[in-house]
Amino acid sequence: MTAQQLRQKYIDFFVSKGHRQVQSASLVPAEDPTVLFTTAGMHPLVPFLMGETHPGGKRICNYQKCVRTGDIDEVGDKTHLTFFEMLGNWSLGDYFKREAISWSFEFLTKELGIPLHMLAVTVFAGDQDASRDQESAEIWISLGVSENRIAYLPKEDNWWGPAGKTGPCGPCTEMFYWTGGGQAPDTYDPKDKRWVEIWNDVLMEFNKKDDGTFEPLKQKNVDTGMGLERTLCVLEGYDNVYETELFQPTIDRIKQLSTDHEDVNSIRIIADHVRTMTFMAGDHVAPSNVGQGYVMRRVMRRAIRHGRKIGIQEHFLAKLVEGVIDQYKVIYPELEKNREEALRNVSLEEERFSKTLEQGLREFEKVVKLMREEGREMIDGQTAFHLYDTYGFPVEMTKDLAQENQLKVDLESFQKAFEQHQELSRTASAGIFKGGLADHSDESKRLHTATHLLHTALKKVLGDQVEQRGSNITKERLRFDYTSDRKMTDEEVKKVEDLVNSAIKDEIDVYYKEMSFDEAKEAGAIGLFEHKYGDKVKVYFMGEYSTEVCGGPHVDNTRDLGGFKISKQEPCSSGVRRIKATVSANA
Ligand code: SER
Repeated sequence: MTAQQLRQKYIDFFVSKGHRQVQSASLVPAEDPTVLFTTAGMHPLVPFLMGETHPGGKRICNYQKCVRTGDIDEVGDKTHLTFFEMLGNWSLGDYFKREAISWSFEFLTKELGIPLHMLAVTVFAGDQDASRDQESAEIWISLGVSENRIAYLPKEDNWWGPAGKTGPCGPCTEMFYWTGGGQAPDTYDPKDKRWVEIWNDVLMEFNKKDDGTFEPLKQKNVDTGMGLERTLCVLEGYDNVYETELFQPTIDRIKQLSTDHEDVNSIRIIADHVRTMTFMAGDHVAPSNVGQGYVMRRVMRRAIRHGRKIGIQEHFLAKLVEGVIDQYKVIYPELEKNREEALRNVSLEEERFSKTLEQGLREFEKVVKLMREEGREMIDGQTAFHLYDTYGFPVEMTKDLAQENQLKVDLESFQKAFEQHQELSRTASAGIFKGGLADHSDESKRLHTATHLLHTALKKVLGDQVEQRGSNITKERLRFDYTSDRKMTDEEVKKVEDLVNSAIKDEIDVYYKEMSFDEAKEAGAIGLFEHKYGDKVKVYFMGEYSTEVCGGPHVDNTRDLGGFKISKQEPCSSGVRRIKATVSANA
């Protein structure tokens, strides 16, 4: 089976069960960005899991681009990746356990033809917050799964979410495939790594609150996620995800460029990281020292260093990125659309980093020599910080290097040194709401509403070519990135502020209408049109001041904003400027 056949089979199956397909959202959460990247298909759906009406209906399915850097240290093994595609189906207050589990079962055993004896499942064991999920176990048994193949596990294994600190979550039931060859053992052992997780059905019936307690959600949802790469790997009988067609072309190219083909770990890390940076670039992320840009920089620099390690002498990232764009452009057209920008940014970063890499590596060798002489094994935080600060070594790169020399890095003291010196990074990491994706606090509503007004005001003052490139909200301020290659004059800043403030003064009611795509365009709505949900979109109106496609959340009347002020403007990446602004209620 090819990756595209698997995507299509999944979508066709869930469409036949009454689901509407929606497009993959951007990797950079556009609304309520409380996390840096979209890490699961459910992120863009949070408002709808919390009870808002989804224009596409109550049954949704898609394949979604995801980035997770939490597992970055494990990349290089058989299954962990920093970028992956998630196949997902959702019930937004519609069907629940029986349908979700039965359809998962049907898809695996009938559509994909996986023999039942290759499968095992886990369900939630129960604790003080929620009871044991006997119902799910019984549904599995009624479908033919043997009791020996069901494990009851605690929250750390069988509970998913919330994505942030608060929000929708619930017990989950996961499906595993036997990859150990031969006959699968009769009894499922959750500790046996030859059972590989391929699908997760989250039975989302709780909302986790700020104080850490759980309350029933307004509606019971289902949120499922199947890993495309892993599923393809097991279906094709491969030993690891890198053997699939999704990685082979990149791995072939890496091998052509390198001299050391034995270092499987480095080859895999490069192949994974190249795909991640390509998809980030496809969503307009550019390497920088903050936020998403810093994550991109880290994966790029790590890939470059592994390239040197396996004997690649020339600049190679852009070549590999091109390959990935060509491979995926039909499924994800944004990659082709942003090809030039991606290649430019990738090449620039490689040039920049190659200059300091050699020097940094020499410095690192000196450190190793000294430590050997002194009999030390732990690289202290200051030294790791020096490598970061002077030679641009991301700490995980120093960690890789340390490991290769049987040394460790004192990460805690590195973090302290980093925080003391990096005002920017501190704001970036502490500033993102810890409150989780579902933060629909009054502050975030006010700032989000102000973002709409700002967006339109910028278009009015600077011209219609201004496009949103990103937005982020903390408790104190909004941040808005937009296309422009110059700083605004003081006069322009004032004009933009005045426009937003007159909308506030005019006390405009904020309301939305659901309409078709074409109607929205006709109504002059601006916004991220690529985020279309089925046929219908929500358009938020604020009198003559703003008409924008959006998922929420907003205040009911612009008067709630109090007043608006731009607190900072700065360059963001090539051709993109950044504005930070406050509303009076937050100022
Ligand atoms: N949100 C769940 C997960 O990420 C199911 O998609 O596993």
